[in-house]
Amino acid sequence: MMQRLSDTLALITGAEQGIGLATAQTFIKHGAQVILSGINHDLGQTEAAKLGKNALYIPLDVRDAEAWKHVFEKYPTISVLVNNAGITGLTETTGPHDPENLDIDSYHAVLNTNLHGTVLGCKFAIAAMKKLTKPASIINISSRSGIVGVQGAAAYAVSKAGVRNHTKSVALHCADQSYQIRCNSIHPAAVMTPIWDAMLPAGPERDNAITSMCQSIPLKEMGQPEDVANACLFLASHESRYITGAEINIDGGILAGSSAPPTNPKS
Ligand SMILES: NC(=O)c1ccc[n+]([C@@H]2O[C@H](COP(=O)([O-])OP(=O)(O)OC[C@H]3O[C@@H](n4cnc5c(N)ncnc54)[C@H](O)[C@@H]3O)[C@@H](O)[C@H]2O)c1
Repeated sequence: MMQRLSDTLALITGAEQGIGLATAQTFIKHGAQVILSGINHDLGQTEAAKLGKNALYIPLDVRDAEAWKHVFEKYPTISVLVNNAGITGLTETTGPHDPENLDIDSYHAVLNTNLHGTVLGCKFAIAAMKKLTKPASIINISSRSGIVGVQGAAAYAVSKAGVRNHTKSVALHCADQSYQIRCNSIHPAAVMTPIWDAMLPAGPERDNAITSMCQSIPLKEMGQPEDVANACLFLASHESRYITGAEINIDGGILAGSSAPPTNPKS
């Protein structure tokens, strides 16, 4: 197999499961050494152990600025950062999350993880990566919800919109300073990971709900974590050397259209 990430040390946040874990697996397959990080330590350690000698798990709560600083002091050669950790707030906070009634503490909790966690990651990554003598890449996992509104999850949507926008500020700043650091965002939607457990009914109704959701996805199926991992691989590798401040939608075509498309009277 071609080693697209040889000589690369990558840090992935929220890598104990889902998209973060799939990205760690993909990076290792392509020659990287990967630091998986998160807040669910038992799971993180178990998964990292399965990945073998090129994987390591460390605790990193993305809300904690001191922890970020410490990680880059300890591992100054990290050249790829995937800011993947995220919560919807639907299970982690009391809510509600609609714009009119939103619970302020719940709102801050979502912003602290999704947006401020990413902003902190970028800050400390830039400080460390600018000293490297090789190109570096920061990949921010935003969402389809960072591009369109979500009435029942407004904090999540605003946090992901912030991630999308901050990505471009980071990209421009690094280019301005002639740092060899690119920064791009990825916008997944409907990717089957544990994040969906809170949004799908349990039991036999679950399959029906997934089938019904797939009807409204142009490609008629949910995405897999590997679909996002492959885009991370591209953005982490030299193949994307001329791409910065860009965004990639990984959504089965959801954002390509609208929910009330004009119909062709002849069809
Ligand atoms: N799955 C989807 O359809 C989808 C769609 C759009 C965006 N996303 C985004 O993709 C990213 C990964 O989500 P996923 O689908 O794999 O969900 P997931 O719930 O499986 O994974 C999220 C991970 O983030 C970690 N995490 C939560 N709070 C943290 C904190 N404070 N510090 C460090 N780690 C923390 C969790 O432990 C978990 O491992 C998230 O940012 C999510 O918003 C996912």
